[in-house]
Amino acid sequence: MSKLQPLLDQMTLQEKIDQLVQLATPFFKGAKDAGEITGPMLSMNIKEGNIQNAGSVLGASGAANIRAIQAKHLEENRLNIPLLFMSDVVHGYKTIFPIPLAIGCSWNTDLAEESARIAAKESAVSGIHVTFAPMVDLVRDPRWGRVMESTGEDPYLNGEFAKAQVRGFQGDQLKESKEHVAACVKHFAAYGAAEGGRDYNTVNMSDRQLQEMYLPAYKAAIDEDCRMVMSSFNTVDGIPATANQHLMNGILRQEWGFDGVMISDWGAVKELIPHGVAADKAEAAAKALRAGTDIEMMTDCYTSHLQELVETGVIEESLIDQSVLRILQLKDDLGLFENPYRGADPELEKQIVLSEQHRKVAKQVALESCVLLKNEQVLPLTKTQKVALIGPFADSGDILGQWSWQGSKEDAVTLRQGFANQLQQEPFVAKGSEIEAITAAFVEEALIIGEQADVLVVALGEDATMSGEAGSLTDIQLPEAQLTLLENLATLNKPIVTVIFNGRPLDLHGVIEHSDAVVEAWFPGTEGGNALADLLYGEQNFSGKLTMSFPNRVGQIPVYYNHYNTGRPKDAADAQVRYVSQYLDSPNGPLFPFGYGLSYTTFSYQEPVLSTHQLTKDETLTITVKVKNTGHTSGKETVQLYVQDLVGEVVRPVKELKAFEKVSLQPGEEKEVQFTLTEAQLRYFHADMSYSSDPGSFKVLVGPNSQETASQLFTLV
Ligand code: BGC
Repeated sequence: MSKLQPLLDQMTLQEKIDQLVQLATPFFKGAKDAGEITGPMLSMNIKEGNIQNAGSVLGASGAANIRAIQAKHLEENRLNIPLLFMSDVVHGYKTIFPIPLAIGCSWNTDLAEESARIAAKESAVSGIHVTFAPMVDLVRDPRWGRVMESTGEDPYLNGEFAKAQVRGFQGDQLKESKEHVAACVKHFAAYGAAEGGRDYNTVNMSDRQLQEMYLPAYKAAIDEDCRMVMSSFNTVDGIPATANQHLMNGILRQEWGFDGVMISDWGAVKELIPHGVAADKAEAAAKALRAGTDIEMMTDCYTSHLQELVETGVIEESLIDQSVLRILQLKDDLGLFENPYRGADPELEKQIVLSEQHRKVAKQVALESCVLLKNEQVLPLTKTQKVALIGPFADSGDILGQWSWQGSKEDAVTLRQGFANQLQQEPFVAKGSEIEAITAAFVEEALIIGEQADVLVVALGEDATMSGEAGSLTDIQLPEAQLTLLENLATLNKPIVTVIFNGRPLDLHGVIEHSDAVVEAWFPGTEGGNALADLLYGEQNFSGKLTMSFPNRVGQIPVYYNHYNTGRPKDAADAQVRYVSQYLDSPNGPLFPFGYGLSYTTFSYQEPVLSTHQLTKDETLTITVKVKNTGHTSGKETVQLYVQDLVGEVVRPVKELKAFEKVSLQPGEEKEVQFTLTEAQLRYFHADMSYSSDPGSFKVLVGPNSQETASQLFTLV
């Protein structure tokens, strides 16, 4: 019996039900933004009593504020059950790190862990107990604005980053530590596969795709003891995730053994009605609870209907008890019964949040996550060159991304500030255009400024609202206004370095052809400008590599590296053939593939050497490759190992990432990188969904990205 059972036994049914409710801060007395329960709040059907008994709070922040809400709550709550404070601390609290898609491009899980640890520390001292992160949805469609929140298109890589983030957020002493928070992996499941890239849209996929590609990263987070899971808005095989018994009870709880708290996404319980699987709020409540949704976020289906559902025998009270116990357990795991204020400390908050030390790490992450896409001998810049910084992002603090709720643009180092810090003098700056509008006067000023310079650094991009939640687009080129600006600047015939700030892989037509160098800066966070100035001036070397393919054209989407072959694959050598799987007007492949990114130095790879060409089921295959820095600058290279199963019972991807290592190399230095493979890494889901490997031939591919690889064969015997 749980030690929390005696507490549960004292609770009335309504008190239990209210534990399952999560409301935003304005509902709570003592909150600095507390509102009267009127208007839209009233229409939510939330009554005074529900608030006194509520289990958790969404989106509160600030140590003093949270202490005040908790104190008031404990005064009013009959059984003194503390509130849980949950928030979206996705890639930083006030010290904002690059967006997760950028962090993925660092291929540095230690840095990802460190950034999550800092985010946790700043959050915990500000009173937060749980963060709604990591988001680990696998993403293949850059039209979907939320690709910015994910680490990309590969299940293995996403799993490694999921684990790193969970470790960073939670540490290993959640109860004793006041510097960590509980993590909530989201959005379970397959939210990233919304049809057409339109947010909240239907997800239709086979069980095999789900298991093989989409589920591994959530599983990795659970294996790392992630305490919470958030259900996704979408349907999975016709059933919304929030009411999907197969997904939540079957896979998550029974198969994977998850015994933590499951929360719905915002309003997702009530959304079972427009989805068309519940006639009304009562039915929505019953379906969500039966599927194992413990907390209902921001709607009132549970609080308004569970009582009557129990009284009429539709729902067994034991189901409610089970959910309440899980929530109480989480409170206990966080030590809230002993200390309901936990880390919330207004004095420490002032010292810790946005500290110099934290900014230093944010800069390091930004340095490793920007990706150099093109460089025709124009970068690095030299300090003797006269540089003009032109474009709507030349001096913009809008470089934090949509999920930087506590981050402030004023605290962000803009590109101009970064250049000024680097050069110890102000660069020439012109705005050139707005994000989506341009005038003759803008162009004229940009041309005058550009004319005086030796090299133009053109800072373009999407503002934060153009990606993120509800940020889907059908056209993923940069806005016309900015392409016009670039076209005009090209008439000056000066070298152009284009730096792009944005949250998704773009269609770079109109950018590539007018630029001598292109840098994908993503939303680089609070220290973005400083990191970029170091990179552009060669004080630091680029080492970021893409973790999501950049399409040639939007019409190709989805384009991703780990696709299947077809019966009629296109053979690049035979361009004349018609009846093969291809587009008549575009290549099949991406403009920039998964794993791609340039450096100021060059690396040479020797042929990979295998320890054996016959692998038995209990042996380990070692793959050794020598990598040398053949240039004149020190640099970091991410060596990537892929495998192709040449013949399977079901079709297998053309390649799958199995391992990677980021190595530092001085000029002329050579290192031996070793990877290991075992039979377990060669398993897949068969026709009957059993998970095993097949004896036969496999290809091992090693290289600097998913396209330029050298291969060797081996046989699994
Ligand atoms: C988002 C979640 C987020 C939640 C709470 C929802 O709209 O989909 O990712 O955690 O809001 O803010």
